[in-house]
Amino acid sequence: MYNNLLVENQNGILIITINREDKLNALNIELLSELKKVVKVVYDDKTIKGAILTGKGPKAFAAGADIAEFASFTEKQGIELSQSGGAIFKSIEECPKPFLALNNGFTLGGGCELAMACHMRIATDNAKFGQPEVALGIIPGYGATQRLVQLVGKGKALELLMTGNMITAAEAKDLGLVNYTFASIEEAMDKCKELINKIATQGPLAIAKIIDCVNCYFDHNIDGFEEESKLFGASMNTQDFKEGTTAFIEKRKAVFTGQ
Ligand code: COA
Repeated sequence: MYNNLLVENQNGILIITINREDKLNALNIELLSELKKVVKVVYDDKTIKGAILTGKGPKAFAAGADIAEFASFTEKQGIELSQSGGAIFKSIEECPKPFLALNNGFTLGGGCELAMACHMRIATDNAKFGQPEVALGIIPGYGATQRLVQLVGKGKALELLMTGNMITAAEAKDLGLVNYTFASIEEAMDKCKELINKIATQGPLAIAKIIDCVNCYFDHNIDGFEEESKLFGASMNTQDFKEGTTAFIEKRKAVFTGQ
């Protein structure tokens, strides 16, 4: 079904593996169109609790957009590539279910941007992060100038974006770019699953609203506080809210239905 992705449903968690190991999982256009399809599956399939995005092999999550593919692009093609890829990354950021990146090696350029569009990043100790586009004479096109600032602050973002330097997983964790680091892919995978399974015990409508409100904080066209008030009120008009509060009062565990 997919030429560039491996997709496996493990007990309601969709494991999406970028499958271009010989090219360090570089993101080509076909791969992005497949990613768009699989993100839609995460949105639509009610049995899926969340997704984990990773790269095939021990060396790379994704070493960037496919340089060979865009090397001869015109300005117009560049804008189109950035906008179409950007829309897919935004759909990951806005996914109402947890979408986690497991960074198992080089996480560079478009790969780092893809990881930053995810809700959290869990890395192996050998992971390396960076935005090396300036070395190619271009700027990032899939959101790094925005999301890197959001995650690590302006000064460090400018340093990374302007130098193109790579940082280690440990440095990325210190900066807040990465949530956790682990020695092995297996341990990192276990942590991703643990996080998604924990989130799945909470009210799903509340989780979707948290993602929406937190994204609003960075949306200059929307007042995040106003959106929060609106969705806080909307939460109260749900069965899950009634169940959650009733369960608390009755000193029992809530059973959420997502209604
Ligand atoms: N686009 C296209 N192909 C890429 C790629 C990318 N972003 N990153 C790696 N590859 C390919 C290489 O061309 C090579 O292909 P080949 O075997 O057909 O020649 C293969 O993946 C292995 O990469 P290689 O460079 O030989 O591995 P390395 O271990 O020596 O170096 C990196 C690893 C990550 C330092 C190096 O591949 C690199 O700098 N990649 C580009 C990073 C980048 O600039 N990303 C931003 C793009 S906008």
